[in-house]
Amino acid sequence: MSRFFKAEISGSDILNSDICLLSLKPHAEYEHPLPGQFYMLQAIGCYDPLLKRPFSIFSIKNNNLSFLFRVRGKATKILSSLKKGEVIDVIGPLGNSYPEPGSDFVAVAGGVGVASLYNLIEKYSCRAHFFYGAKTKDELVLLDKISSLAKELTIVTQDCSCGLEGVVTDACADAICIPDSALNGLPVYACGPNPMLKALHSRLSGKGIKCYVSLEEHMACGVGACLGCVVKGINEYKRVCKEGPVFSMDEIQW
Ligand SMILES: Cc1cc2nc3c(=O)[nH]c(=O)nc-3n(C[C@H](O)[C@H](O)[C@H](O)COP(=O)(O)OP(=O)(O)OC[C@H]3O[C@@H](n4cnc5c(N)ncnc54)[C@H](O)[C@@H]3O)c2cc1C
Ligand code: FES
Repeated sequence: MSRFFKAEISGSDILNSDICLLSLKPHAEYEHPLPGQFYMLQAIGCYDPLLKRPFSIFSIKNNNLSFLFRVRGKATKILSSLKKGEVIDVIGPLGNSYPEPGSDFVAVAGGVGVASLYNLIEKYSCRAHFFYGAKTKDELVLLDKISSLAKELTIVTQDCSCGLEGVVTDACADAICIPDSALNGLPVYACGPNPMLKALHSRLSGKGIKCYVSLEEHMACGVGACLGCVVKGINEYKRVCKEGPVFSMDEIQW
């Protein structure tokens, strides 16, 4: 089974002003992805931008692979404007995956970081204590679905337009650190902007909590060849596309 294949757009929905849910039907047999893995996507015949872009697997249903992404620049704008039936180039699944949670677990998503964690809470349905944060409620998507898949959903917005007021890392760390908290000792899985992950590290490190983070770096090749995506690990540089994107939080120099 090749990791290079073509796929047809089977659905494309703009969920809010800049978040798109894109579904693809692969033209060939494909390797099934694990939660946390990612794909490189590119519209056929697209030379600007020249490089494919990385996106986490969001969900797999009825032989469709779906991706949830924020429209940021040229590539995401082009991908979000493709119509049903159009065909794109795909490479994947790539990278490692989230370790299997042995029990219930805590998931922490910042903004569109929810894209990487959704497949995990779908696979281990009703086992996630899910903390979902954003600047404002318009940036939160698919709350009904997430609520039905999670064991418990805590929403946090910085402007208090939905759920608790504040930042999601504080809400999550406060809940974990309450003495005798039911969340104490559960592994934590997190994805979001780097400052959010850094904040999570500063709240949870040294507390004996196993925490896995999915990192997002600019990528060129996506397969470990160009060193374009390296981050500083504790002992060595790590390629996010090859050794990651999922790392144990204490492997990374924050
Ligand atoms: C493993 C992995 C999985 C990802 N999964 C998702 C996902 O599921 N959903 C999603 O919305 N995005 C995801 N991203 C980020 C996504 O790849 C970028 O948003 C996309 O490449 C932007 O392409 P563009 O041409 O539209 O924007 P560009 O023109 O390349 O960039 C527009 C702006 O976004 C910033 N930017 C671009 N890429 C990144 C990045 N990787 N990290 C931080 N800032 C960036 C640029 O600095 C620039 O300011 C993932 C990234 C990685 C590495
Ligand atoms: S993107 Fe080329 S090594 Fe990671």
